[in-house]
Amino acid sequence: MTDSHLGAFLLQWIKSPQEMGSLVPSGGTLANAMARQVGMRENGTIIELGAGTGVITSVLLKAVSRADQLIVVENNPNLAGLLRGTFPDAQIVERDAAKLGVIAREHNVGEACDIVSGLPFLLLTRKKQYAILKQAFALIGSGGTFVQFTYGPKTPISPKVLNRLGITGRRVAFVWRNMPPAFVWRFEKRRTAAFEASHEGVLSDSPAHGAPSPSSA
Ligand SMILES: C[S@@+](CC[C@H](N)C(=O)[O-])C[C@H]1O[C@@H](n2cnc3c(N)ncnc32)[C@H](O)[C@@H]1O
Repeated sequence: MTDSHLGAFLLQWIKSPQEMGSLVPSGGTLANAMARQVGMRENGTIIELGAGTGVITSVLLKAVSRADQLIVVENNPNLAGLLRGTFPDAQIVERDAAKLGVIAREHNVGEACDIVSGLPFLLLTRKKQYAILKQAFALIGSGGTFVQFTYGPKTPISPKVLNRLGITGRRVAFVWRNMPPAFVWRFEKRRTAAFEASHEGVLSDSPAHGAPSPSSA
């Protein structure tokens, strides 16, 4: 990150602290911890929400085979312009993350592998949290996840919103080498009875590696 990136972030925070949610961009260690939740993606799409100056974007770009697998959403025009200049090959969308469904349609994304968010969720209204999460989980396919960082120990997304959408969350990392130190959370759709029924055989009592041999006790 250059001094001009830091300056640009700080300037936007002065103009709109509620939208930015943080005084400074995330550090590289936090960006790596977020991207680690996604892993390498040879196919499929990753969507990043609230990219700021692109600290996490630059790590996510290394996780995909092609730059067009990553869609970067940032609603601040100055930061979106900065992102376009820094990552000319990436798809930078200057739009409210609450329009995620429309953004996905416009970019022909039927199913996103994962969504990585730097949005200031704690500062969003419950209604907005719900709108974003509902659209996000309509896009995340089976095995996909929603990754979010936050500075406090509690879930950054309202438990009421999570319950209503049938989503569970868990802390997966704590990054103390960040300013301020941050927790990484992973959110996933709770498995429904229908899902469990359709996967019944997979978790039955039969041995995972084939039938027991005659000598098995
Ligand atoms: C805490 S900063 C995180 C920036 C970057 N991901 C990082 O880790 O350094 C939050 C970012 O989300 C953006 N943002 C806030 N509300 C948004 C919304 N509704 N839609 C899209 N971006 C939003 C802000 O402009 C800001 O860049």
